Amino acid sequence: MKTILVTGSSGLIGSQAVEHFDRQGHQVVGVDNNMRRVFFGEPGDTTWNLERLRSVTRNFTQFNLDIRDCSALEELFRKYRFDLIVHCAAQPSHDKARDIPILDFEVNALGTVNLLEATRLHSPEAVFVFLSTNKVYGDAPNELPLKELETRWDYARPEDFSGIAEHCRIDRTLHSLFGASKASADLMAQEYGRYFGMKVGIFRGGCLTGPSHSGVELHGFLSYLVKVALRGDTYTVFGYKGKQVRDNIHSQDVVRAIEEFAANPRPGEVYNLGGGRENSISMLEAIARIEHMSGKKLNWKYLDQNRKGDHICYISNLAKFRSDYPNWSITIGLDEILRQIIADHTLRLTRAEAR
Ligand SMILES: NC(=O)c1ccc[n+]([C@@H]2O[C@H](COP(=O)([O-])OP(=O)(O)OC[C@H]3O[C@@H](n4cnc5c(N)ncnc54)[C@H](O)[C@@H]3O)[C@@H](O)[C@H]2O)c1
Repeated sequence: MKTILVTGSSGLIGSQAVEHFDRQGHQVVGVDNNMRRVFFGEPGDTTWNLERLRSVTRNFTQFNLDIRDCSALEELFRKYRFDLIVHCAAQPSHDKARDIPILDFEVNALGTVNLLEATRLHSPEAVFVFLSTNKVYGDAPNELPLKELETRWDYARPEDFSGIAEHCRIDRTLHSLFGASKASADLMAQEYGRYFGMKVGIFRGGCLTGPSHSGVELHGFLSYLVKVALRGDTYTVFGYKGKQVRDNIHSQDVVRAIEEFAANPRPGEVYNLGGGRENSISMLEAIARIEHMSGKKLNWKYLDQNRKGDHICYISNLAKFRSDYPNWSITIGLDEILRQIIADHTLRLTRAEAR
């Protein structure tokens, strides 16, 4: 039995990690202060997910702790000796960061360093997995030549077909403040791996998704799109003719990647992790697919102005992770992801109406 710390344990990836490792019989310690509600208001509240976790787990202990609070972290790390740390707590929104630059930096950059340092001091043998983001590349991926198809943008050159690889540059691009705070954390995590030789792995996520997302307009694209469709609200598409492309990976496939890394860690290594080309979809295609699968017509409007620094076509090139960890693959396709999100939101809506 291992002792595993999951930060952001009430969030999408954190909660999936908690469930996964608890099911395997490990002792799982969660840290989450429901700060998603502070960032996004009531729709971002993750209490429902914490309650759900409490009801489905056997050996899970939750701490309402802020990763910015060094002394609380110190106390936690004195109490437990961790074998694995899965660091998912974050201010996760590209757009939100501009309203709260200091808070965004404190949570994303300083919070990560606090955890890395606590690990170095108290659990130096632990594997540490940091959930980074493709926004560390800023808008550099937009420099690739693109072609416009009927419903999506795509890479024009055959050599770009599999998407963006880890050698894409991370500086001299427009990141958004979120991308910059995550890039700071990403570099520090690499440094703890390379300089201190700790077993740190960095995953640069594409669109991470699944039914446990508390989807809001500024974060959680598919989850929020489904929520809007089912409630009959109006969705706003920002620029790029609605043909912007995202690659989507189910939280379970993310956790499986973390598990593979933890079993055979490569200190300081960086991996792109998303759904890859097979799980890529454009905004227009997602709207059509959700309408078809949910049987609901989605109200949406188009604003010509794209989100600042937004990717036009982003597909994660998964070749490096696949080559280092051949036991891993994408197991959940886009239709199944959407089916699960629709089913879950339908249930949440029915429960809310019954209250
Ligand atoms: N979801 C995506 O599409 C996506 C894409 C790329 C990268 N990522 C990264 O993956 C990680 C997990 O994302 P997610 O989608 O699960 O996010 P999420 O918002 O669902 O979960 C993050 C959790 O962290 C908690 N949290 C925030 N600040 C905290 C603090 N100071 N102390 C303690 N807890 C705090 C929140 O309450 C929330 O429950 C994040 O680092 C995010 O940047 C996510």
